[in-house]
Amino acid sequence: MIDLKNINKTFQVGNTRVDALKNVNIHVKKGEIFGVIGFSGAGKSTLLRMINLLEKPTSGEININGKNLLTLNEKGLRSVRKKIGIIFQQFNLLSSYNVFDNVAEILRMNHVPKKGIQRKVEELLTLVGLEDKVNQYPAQLSGGQKQRVGIARALAMDPEILLCDEATSALDPQTTDSILELLLDINKKLGLTIVLITHEMEVIKKTCDRVAVMEKGEVIEQGTVLDIFSNPQQGTTKKFLKNLYDDTITKEMVAKLKTFDHSYILRLAFRGDAALDPVLNVVSSRYSVTTNIVHGSITYLKGNPLGILVVHISGDYEKVKQAITYLSNTVYHAKISLKIDPKTEEVLTL
Ligand SMILES: Nc1ncnc2c1ncn2[C@@H]1O[C@H](COP(=O)(O)OP(=O)(O)OP(=O)(O)O)[C@@H](O)[C@H]1O
Ligand SMILES: [Mg+2]
Repeated sequence: MIDLKNINKTFQVGNTRVDALKNVNIHVKKGEIFGVIGFSGAGKSTLLRMINLLEKPTSGEININGKNLLTLNEKGLRSVRKKIGIIFQQFNLLSSYNVFDNVAEILRMNHVPKKGIQRKVEELLTLVGLEDKVNQYPAQLSGGQKQRVGIARALAMDPEILLCDEATSALDPQTTDSILELLLDINKKLGLTIVLITHEMEVIKKTCDRVAVMEKGEVIEQGTVLDIFSNPQQGTTKKFLKNLYDDTITKEMVAKLKTFDHSYILRLAFRGDAALDPVLNVVSSRYSVTTNIVHGSITYLKGNPLGILVVHISGDYEKVKQAITYLSNTVYHAKISLKIDPKTEEVLTL
């Protein structure tokens, strides 16, 4: 549906050159919620603005539904843009218009016949849960309500794609949740494809199917939210995940582990119902090894449980090896993250 190929974007400010995007490749499938996460200045907004060509790439290709946006004339581009809604952190409402007119304005601008406007605005305001705020002005609304108006405006022209630029960053956690619920609801009800950028893993975790992690203009890692959460590869991804679960192995732990023979630290990820299985009990009794939980947590990804366990496993060398093989075949993802050589006491981080 959305295909960004080898996108580069360079800004020249005076004598300084900023490479805001470097060889970015992203493919968003129809109907999915795709998240982009990164620290401030990573290039997220620039990337989002490429999708409706508010910002032109220095090089690269942008395809939407198979149409190469860079080859379209003004008229062609306008018709593609009509099908792309966008919402912002600052809501971008018209302060002198009431809620009704804020939404109706989008329809008028797009020359929707007058008699259809009343019904369409009512339908949109019901969808976002603001049917009783029709005559209020933005200054009389809470942040969450303002963002609901922003969403109604973005949906006015029945878009196929909704772009969200930090749409919940100005909101408190509870209001954030209600807006994310609304996004999930319209994604399902309208089959809308959503691209959402954020600096909060919490937002990705609750809404997204797949995610790309950006750093200094580059996509450093991307995949399903399940895979990225189960087995993050890059330091920045791990930093973002630390707010949700902290599985750092401390120096004190390592010192203690040196006193065991054949010590291994394993990081195990369990998905779905298996997150609740007593797999460690099975391993200890079947292979006569000792297991100790160093860290344990259950995270819910779009409501589906993902269990993360960091486990210390020790005992007879052959038995430990067999237990690790068993675990690798049983759980969703298993990785040895630390091994201690009993002879040299050397710590090998794998
Ligand atoms: N119009 C512009 N002119 C010059 N430099 C720009 C322009 N827009 C963005 N940049 C630069 O490009 C880089 C990426 O900016 P961008 O706004 O995409 O980051 P971001 O990931 O959205 O950050 P934030 O989380 O703070 O919104 C930054 O270094 C920024 O200063
Ligand atoms: Mg931004």
